[in-house]
Order: sequence, then C-alpha cells, then structure tokens
Amino acid sequence: MRYYLGIETSCDETAAAIVDDNYNIISNIIFSQQKIHSPYFGVVPELASRMHYEKIHFVVKKAFKNFDIKKIHLITYTEKPGLKGALLIGKTVAKTLGYIFSIPTLGVDHLWGHIYSVILSYKGKIKFPFISLIISGGHTELSLVKSFTKRKILGNTRDDAVGEAFDKVAKLLSLSYPGGPVIEKLAKLGNPKSINFPRPYMLDSWDFSFSGLKTAVLYYVNSLESSKIQPSIPPSAGSKLISDICASFQEAVVETLTTKVVYATKKLNCNRICISGGVSANEYLREKFLNLAKKNNLEVYFPQKNLSTDNAAMIAALGKYFYN
Ligand code: KG4
Ligand code: ZN
Repeated sequence: MRYYLGIETSCDETAAAIVDDNYNIISNIIFSQQKIHSPYFGVVPELASRMHYEKIHFVVKKAFKNFDIKKIHLITYTEKPGLKGALLIGKTVAKTLGYIFSIPTLGVDHLWGHIYSVILSYKGKIKFPFISLIISGGHTELSLVKSFTKRKILGNTRDDAVGEAFDKVAKLLSLSYPGGPVIEKLAKLGNPKSINFPRPYMLDSWDFSFSGLKTAVLYYVNSLESSKIQPSIPPSAGSKLISDICASFQEAVVETLTTKVVYATKKLNCNRICISGGVSANEYLREKFLNLAKKNNLEVYFPQKNLSTDNAAMIAALGKYFYN
C-alpha cells in the first residue's frame, strides 16, 4: 500500500492530510483562518501568510498523530494558483520534509485538487470523460476531464468567481464572511421568485460572469432607499426582505450554473458531471442539479461535504496519478 501526504496553503486554509492508494483518508487536518479574515470580508494575503506560518507545524504534526512519516511514498503540495506568500509556506514545509526523510515531492495544481475531491469521494470509481464545474471563492471553471491527468479547460470566469459573488453580496448586505453559508441559511427563509435578478447565461461562450449579478443586487438595495420602502439600508439581517434578496440571488446563481452545465452536456455529448469547490457545499444548488439530472438522464457527482471547501486530502489524492 502506498501513502501520500498532501499539504494545502494556497488561500485561507492551512491543511495537511494522508491518503492511501485506495482513496482512504487516513487523516485530514484543516485549520481555517476564516475568523481572522472575517472583519475584512475577504482574505488579506499578508495575514494569510502569517497564519500559515504559525499553524502549519501544528497541522502537519496532527496529521501524523498515529502515522509514521517514513511510510509516506510522496509529498504533494499546492504549487498554483494561489497567494504567493501563502503557497511558499506549504512548499517550504513539503520540500523540507522531503529532504529530511528522503521522500519525493510534487507541486500540484489546486484546481485539479478540487476535481480530485470528487474522485476521492467516490474512491476513483467515476468514469471518464466527465464535465467538471469548479465553483470556489477564487475560480469558476468549466472543463472536460478526459482521464486522471488530462482536462480540456473550456471556460473561466471573466470577472468575479461564484464564491466571490456570494462573499461580496454578503458584504453589501452587511452579513458575515464567508458569504456562501450565511446566504444559503437566510435564503431558506426567503422566496427565490420574489426579485428577478439577471441570469448571466452567456451561452455563446463557455465563460462565466457574475459581477453584473452582484451589481444588480447592489442597485436593488440602493433602490429601496430611494423608494423609501426600507428605512434602514442595508435591510436588517433578520428581515423578510433580506431573506428574499438572498433567496433570489442564490436562485439566479443556481439557475445560471445549472442551465449552462446542462447545455454543456448536450453540446459535448457527455452525460457525467462533477461539481466541486466551496460553493458545491450549497444544499440548494445540489438539490437543483440532482433534480435536473433525473429529468435529463445525467449523472451528477459532488464531493463529500467536508471535501467541498479547501483541504489537503484532495491534494494528497493527486499523487497517485500525477507522479510516475
Ligand atoms: O473552495 P474554497 O474553500 O476556496 C477557494 O478555493 O476559493 O471556496 C470558498 C468559497 C467562498 O467564497 C464561500 O463563500 C463559498 O466557497 N461557499 C459557499 C458555501 N460554502 C462555502 N457558497 C455557497 N454556499 C455555501 N454553502
Ligand atoms: Zn479551492
């Protein structure tokens, strides 16, 4: 049996994990920096680097609590994309461990990591090809995955990533960071059909654009002030109005993504879809995709909930096929 160590420090999660050849997760330790960044409503790069620097030792040590490091076959670490200072911490730790214990190291692509979060969740049993939709705080990517190591990138976001749009809308509504989970929670109390926000389908391209939708929410909130419907701007967090805004925004995002992906399955003649990245934790989005899958005879796969957001198990899992 081979064992892989993964190290992830590309953004605001300091993570280390051990995965075996059969995609069993031996350990999966994540220190989330969300509390540190939340007063700023976004990740502050310098703070992120400092926190990785402070926590990585503790996180790696915990991952090896019941495991002998000498059994590790390969150390993978996130090499790109991400915050430069943050990436450097993970790379330095990976290289140092590799040097001390004579273990090879491999720098890997974080986006492949998200794709592997789904492969890992299904223990490598998903057939190729499949359409991959990565929806995270930093990326929105549509690709055709042809094998364990080959993907053709079809489209990216031209401006805000989906998760970024959730975070910015939460900020303009004076909610909390990260925006996704809080918007999802408030949306459960609102009516998704109450406000007709735009759906940026862009079906003439595989790219995405979510900044216009975010701006539409801003204009809507501002218009409340001028029409004096709502005396306090932004509306207070407990109000029905704010739940309606959250539900309608979430509906616009989900409808845009489902429409585009279902369109892609037809155009590319591929009925398998894997959806990953932090936004894939959203239950409403999962439900909508699963319903559409039933209707259109599609297979849809999501990562386990704890593998949706950034983690090192997905990075460790890359070692099996990316290192020869
Ligand atoms: O994948 P991830 O942990 O980090 C990046 O690689 O960017 O994704 C973080 C993003 C944040 O923007 C956060 O608001 C969003 O994922 N997110 C969600 C949910 N949970 C996290 N968005 C919508 N619904 C959620 N339940
Ligand atoms: Zn990520």
